[in-house]
Amino acid sequence: MDPRKLEKDAFAAVAAAASTEEIERVRIEFLGRKSELKLALREVRDRETGMALNALRERLESAVGTREAELGRAELDRRLTEDVVDVTLPGDEQPLGTLHPTTLTRRIIEDAFLGLGYEVIDDREVETVHYNFDQLAFAAAHPSRSHRDTFFLDPERLLRTETSPSQIHVMEAKKPPIYMVSLGRVYRRDEVTATRFPIFHQFEGLAVDRSITLADLEGTLLHVMRALFGDDRRVRFRTHFFPFTEPSIEPDVSCPICDMRGCRTCKDTGWVELGGAGMVDPQVFLNVGIDPEEWTGFAFGCGIERAAQLRHGISEIRPFWENDLRVLRQF
Ligand code: PHE
Repeated sequence: MDPRKLEKDAFAAVAAAASTEEIERVRIEFLGRKSELKLALREVRDRETGMALNALRERLESAVGTREAELGRAELDRRLTEDVVDVTLPGDEQPLGTLHPTTLTRRIIEDAFLGLGYEVIDDREVETVHYNFDQLAFAAAHPSRSHRDTFFLDPERLLRTETSPSQIHVMEAKKPPIYMVSLGRVYRRDEVTATRFPIFHQFEGLAVDRSITLADLEGTLLHVMRALFGDDRRVRFRTHFFPFTEPSIEPDVSCPICDMRGCRTCKDTGWVELGGAGMVDPQVFLNVGIDPEEWTGFAFGCGIERAAQLRHGISEIRPFWENDLRVLRQF
């Protein structure tokens, strides 16, 4: 081996190395275990040659190290300038779902009541006979109390058949004045048909204050109906019966589908039934310890799917529960 030739070749190779990979190859070639220099070092017999070769090894190691650091820095610089993320490129699209029409409608109702200063409540779905019927002054023989109409969990507990028990919970928990709306699922043992489903949503309103009248109820329902179906809606009342309101009424809204010209939805009457309502029965006030001489109130309950059907012109309730994406994607 000729140490001077080796040194010349090695330094030339170090200088010529243009990447960290190349300098690594140079290091292996000239300083690796099988390199000429390492083999020569192993074979050394005399001190002088050994010192000379070790000195050469050190010079070479330092040259390789310096070059390697240079190249590494240059490569990092290049990557930092070249590989920057181009924020103008379109990103990977994340498929986003849409809100369910029941949720959309629920939010409109919540917003309308929040605007009126009402408290929005999410109440329990498992109720007791006490709250679902007794406190709401249902007669002992009312058909809703039977297992045929209502899902009982045991003789005392059931799936609420309406959101009205919320009225009781709220009146027990706080003193009037009360302005609240409670939204959620209710359960009835109905067959599935085009218009009936054993689970659906209701929104229940309750206002308790001094000198509340039916006109306040009408104005409140009108406000919500206009939020749901547009500014031209009108509201009318027909008398009815509920155990917990007196007088009881069924509010109608002018048909949002045909604008009162007459269509299938309103059965050519121009009006669509909304749900139930009325003035809080004095007996209910007594049941929760509110003095009916001092306080008055109104309550109402309406179906949310029904409101959504009218908003979107959907003739059946079933699509709301089938979760067919071809339907839900349209909202
Ligand atoms: N809870 C009644 C129903 O589901 C509706 C209602 C609510 C009636 C409040 C009067 C007052 O049919």
